[in-house]
Amino acid sequence: MAQVFEATCSAPVNIAVVKYWGKRDTSLILPTNSSLSVTLSQDQLHSKTTIRASESFTEDQLWLNGKQESISSNKRLVACLRETRALRANIESKDESLPKLAHLKIHICSENNFPTAAGLASSASGYACLVFTLATLFDLRLNASELSIIARQGSGSACRSLFGGFVAWEMGQNDDGSDSKAVQIAPETHWPELEAMICVVSDAKKGTSSTEGMQLTVKTSPLLQHRIKEVVPRRMEDMIQAIKDRNFPRFADLTMQDSNQFHAVCLDTYPPIFYMNDISRAIIRIITEYNKSGVKAAYTYDAGPNAVIYAPRENMPEIYALLSHYFPGAAFADSLGMLKEQKKDWTPADI
Ligand code: DP6
Repeated sequence: MAQVFEATCSAPVNIAVVKYWGKRDTSLILPTNSSLSVTLSQDQLHSKTTIRASESFTEDQLWLNGKQESISSNKRLVACLRETRALRANIESKDESLPKLAHLKIHICSENNFPTAAGLASSASGYACLVFTLATLFDLRLNASELSIIARQGSGSACRSLFGGFVAWEMGQNDDGSDSKAVQIAPETHWPELEAMICVVSDAKKGTSSTEGMQLTVKTSPLLQHRIKEVVPRRMEDMIQAIKDRNFPRFADLTMQDSNQFHAVCLDTYPPIFYMNDISRAIIRIITEYNKSGVKAAYTYDAGPNAVIYAPRENMPEIYALLSHYFPGAAFADSLGMLKEQKKDWTPADI
């Protein structure tokens, strides 16, 4: 019987506090600005991937959340496979004793334990996990920044999920993308009191994908040019400083301003893109009101209506009580991995 080589890994979700939105190179996935995110705990939200390689496999195959998907039509996945196989082939050429894995067909089985494509960064954990599992199977011995360069070619935000804690994706300058990589600003132990709570406003698949939406923004939004040139370079520096200082009010202000500007460039896109809905905007008003006596929580929204609230742990019970008062029955997951309540169809109370 043919030998089967196997690796299983999991990777976490990250939520940006300085958003990536726009590519300068769509095939290498090179961004128009640097970005910064916080990696959430793997306990609740993660992707898990098993990859097997065997002589007995006749073609590369992929199962995503239990459903078989095509590999050949997925250019990004093909790029990640090509890159990791080339690195493995190179190692094998230098060491005759190694098993010849680079030429074997593989079966990939990947699952997210949260709704795919609902603006909950499933592509980030998914591609980080794919590349990490390939690197484990092929024993590539690359560091996380090196792996991030490959994961970036699967999905931009995936490069940041190779690290825990606070992670910057440096946009880089090179045309070949060799310096467009993730670096860790601080490990998760640096600021253990900081927590994230996810408010699942809707788990429906989003209307405009990030990939599609951001290139329409690049083409049509004058505000994006201002963001890229004037706002983000300064905001990256300020955010890194706020994290280093564990200065929550500063971190929160920058996070909320950046989320607001990201959704403003979506509105400035022509035709406009709307990711937030009435409930998302209601949550912004509640958090703004809550912060009037001092900044105690920060909201941020990606390409979907779900809110992520960052706050020091001590404030979380109050925030949870506040939001569940206005939105009884909504699903909230905190970064400690507890899904507190879940109900699909719910209507908000009066706001
Ligand atoms: C709003 O990484 O999903 O979440 O590179 O085309 O796969 P592609 O896009 P993707 O975009 C994420 C956009 C964002 C902001 C962020 O995570 O920085």
